[in-house]
Amino acid sequence: MEVILADYLGFCYGVKRAIKIARENAAPDGSACTLGPIIHNPQMVERLKEEGVGTISSLDDMKRGRVIIRSHGVGPETYARAEAMGLECVDATCPHVKKAQLSAKELAEEGRFVVIVGEKEHPEVQSIVQWAGGSVAVVETAAEAAAVLSVPKLGIVSQTTFSGRRFREIVSALLDKSRDIRVMRTICTATDQRQHAARELASKVDVMIVIGGKNSANTTRLAQLCAKTCRTYHIETAEELQLAWFDNIEKIGITAGASTPDWIIKEVYKKCQRI
Ligand code: F3S
Repeated sequence: MEVILADYLGFCYGVKRAIKIARENAAPDGSACTLGPIIHNPQMVERLKEEGVGTISSLDDMKRGRVIIRSHGVGPETYARAEAMGLECVDATCPHVKKAQLSAKELAEEGRFVVIVGEKEHPEVQSIVQWAGGSVAVVETAAEAAAVLSVPKLGIVSQTTFSGRRFREIVSALLDKSRDIRVMRTICTATDQRQHAARELASKVDVMIVIGGKNSANTTRLAQLCAKTCRTYHIETAEELQLAWFDNIEKIGITAGASTPDWIIKEVYKKCQRI
């Protein structure tokens, strides 16, 4: 049996950078915390906790010390509030997310109604909403795009991890909503690369293993894409692998979301090889 890794998988640039920043700002006395989990991966969050980087879910949970803004970013009022509370703010927002946030702000400042193409509940999207200000809608499907009212000036940005194909579909559905439309395609290449590599590998193997947090949007999307082509299992750790999945097969493909640590990918790879 052959085990093949996707050409692009695992930590993206923004996640590597955020973890490096968090480690550089660790405090063994518990006074350094990320606002929300640094990435959607429980194993990595646990490891950072042991290294002196805790997690808070709200600024209210912190009285002093250093708050680290994770790669998903936050709205402008969070920076202002942290400063007003006397907290040291360390910004690990991914530069691509920052670009999406500032693009939304720029479109709003041009007097445009801003449509953010993305998942409403995703923290990154919620931060982009805040940078866009009041005149904004989040659209996740072409049907939702069709329901957007016509406006004189329209601006479109995207969640960085959104699928390029679905973004095009949604933009097409928005084209008749205004005579003045500006589209800023703020999808980062890490997502496209991982999706393209996963799709390609899924077409060559019998089973795909997709590794990453069950709460990770980009990992879930990789699993959905692979499932269209071959039998696919989404797991968080090597312990979840089951022998029965690999009966009578020749090739196993492995991919992992942008928030999946290398050490977990290696464990899964080795266990699949042993199988
Ligand atoms: Fe940044 Fe793209 Fe990763 S937006 S956090 S490099 S998936």
